[in-house]
Amino acid sequence: MENRIKLLGLLSHAALALLLCSLLLKTGAAQAFDGLGRVATSDEVKAWDIDVRPDFVGLPKGSGSVAKGMEVWDAQCASCHGVFGESNEIFTPIVGGTTAEDIKKGRVQSLKDGSAPQRTTLMKVPTLSTLWDYINRAMPWTAPKSLSTEEVYAVTAYILNMGGVVGDDFVLSDQNMAQTQAKLPNRNGMQTNHGMWLPSGKPDVKELRCMSNCKPDARVISFLPDYARHAHGNLQDQNRLVGPVRGVPTLPPAYNKSALNNEVNGRVQEK
Ligand code: HEC
Repeated sequence: MENRIKLLGLLSHAALALLLCSLLLKTGAAQAFDGLGRVATSDEVKAWDIDVRPDFVGLPKGSGSVAKGMEVWDAQCASCHGVFGESNEIFTPIVGGTTAEDIKKGRVQSLKDGSAPQRTTLMKVPTLSTLWDYINRAMPWTAPKSLSTEEVYAVTAYILNMGGVVGDDFVLSDQNMAQTQAKLPNRNGMQTNHGMWLPSGKPDVKELRCMSNCKPDARVISFLPDYARHAHGNLQDQNRLVGPVRGVPTLPPAYNKSALNNEVNGRVQEK
């Protein structure tokens, strides 16, 4: 944990900025590029330095209620992520797949037994700060950083409310982030002892080379159903012509030229 926090601290923009500034000052590079650029004002640095760490350093003071969060959600998030966080055909679901038992244990069972049809954000995310920080910096997708601090607290609270983590009257604030973190369904699900985290860590998959009596060729167990084949145009046409990766042709067999002419942005116009 401590290493992780150190690592995150090191990588945070603010720390990098400080490091760069001190390097520049030490080497006198500021003079070498006379007339180029200027020292960032403290307000500029403040606007840039918005990361919130898992230990909540960087979290601004403030609060927001579930009720207010519902307003924000319905007006600014539901169009992409669905009224209940279930999302529509394109976007990954935010809410779902967690149980009261998971909230107690801090480990999401459906991640292990595959009982949820799709992985949702609440199933995966182990740190509430990440959810807060991500919404604050990146959402809504079409207008990132447009939410007020209160709106970010509120909509985060509402997501937790939809997931059954907090009640309808709940108000999330900088004062109770840590207590709320302690209820996050997958809070104990984060592992760091693998190669995805540290280059020296163990790989996260195990496979032994087979030299005799090997299994026959891989069996295909999932495929694109016919009704979905053309939902996003012909995937084959959407790949770059370089590199090894090819999209499969997803035109349905009976698809004809005149239908193709009605295509707008890769989608078929219904007539
Ligand atoms: C125009 C569509 C759109 C709107 C509106 C929108 N989002 Fe998103 N959201 C996305 C997309 C696309 C992603 C995935 C982005 C990526 O992976 O780079 C995403 C990702 C997320 C994630 C992270 C999901 C994950 O598991 O990684 C959260 C949380 C989220 N959005 C919350 C919100 C909230 C809260 C709002 C409203 C304030 C909102 N979004 C509004 C499109 C949208």
